[in-house]
Amino acid sequence: MRLIHPVPAGETSGDPDLARIYAYPAGPCVRINMVASADGGIWLDGLSGGLSGRGDKRIFGTLRGLADVVLAGASTVRDEGYRPARPRESWRELREGRPPAPPVAVLTRRLDLDLDAPLFTEAEPYARTIIVTCEAAPADRRAEAAGRAEVIVAGDDRVDLAAAVKELGERGLERVLCEGGAKVNGQLAAAGLVDELCLTVSPMLVGGSAARILDGGDALTGLRLAHVLEEDGFLFTRYVRESR
Ligand SMILES: NC(=O)c1ccc[n+]([C@@H]2O[C@H](COP(=O)([O-])OP(=O)(O)OC[C@H]3O[C@@H](n4cnc5c(N)ncnc54)[C@H](OP(=O)(O)O)[C@@H]3O)[C@@H](O)[C@H]2O)c1
Repeated sequence: MRLIHPVPAGETSGDPDLARIYAYPAGPCVRINMVASADGGIWLDGLSGGLSGRGDKRIFGTLRGLADVVLAGASTVRDEGYRPARPRESWRELREGRPPAPPVAVLTRRLDLDLDAPLFTEAEPYARTIIVTCEAAPADRRAEAAGRAEVIVAGDDRVDLAAAVKELGERGLERVLCEGGAKVNGQLAAAGLVDELCLTVSPMLVGGSAARILDGGDALTGLRLAHVLEEDGFLFTRYVRESR
């Protein structure tokens, strides 16, 4: 993998230090990480895996190691078969003073989640899975979920994303890594909550009906390009909100 922007000063050798390049800024921060095809599609046969590659997987892992919490929409969790994040040796230094792995926080209104799945049964006590839901969620499912996960209620008819991010922050989970999908990203962006976008551009066209990285209302946000890395024709970009 090589850094191509900003242009490195002088000769560079060896792999860039991803943990340094992707370090969170001080204070609360919501970062989205997504992979898209060159024509902007975010899935291939309904899943993101076919768009990914070894560099993207490395960055995906590094970003999890840096985050306090991994946020994902219920469709992403269901479709991609989410499991708890497992501690890695390479995270030890990154997570000094924090639990060895970040919890996963699932956004859902319907609570149509398999509470017997490893995401809920195999999460370590220090990274219990969090369910972020709203008052309109079915009461019986909410009660059931409380036995298997931390439950945060933020919003009436649907989760209010600003309230959810605030609630996570109050639990010390300030460095939020949102892994999608498009519907959650769209709401975060529409609410002006996206501080950073880490976007992998995969060297392929997918066409068809694949969603873009945002699905939802207007979300005009100026971004500044922080860096671009390249490996095997994949581009790994990091954008930061212009006004930040
Ligand atoms: N390329 C990539 O990097 C990438 C990353 C992630 C996902 N994906 C793909 O994207 C697809 C899923 O994305 P998606 O946009 O369809 O769905 P999504 O954003 O993952 O999840 C949507 C679901 O999240 C819950 N939700 C969203 N906003 C909510 C709110 N305000 N209040 C309460 N619940 C809320 C709802 O769950 P309930 O229905 O349970 O109420 C809703 O159905 C999958 O195909 C996945 O493979 C690709």
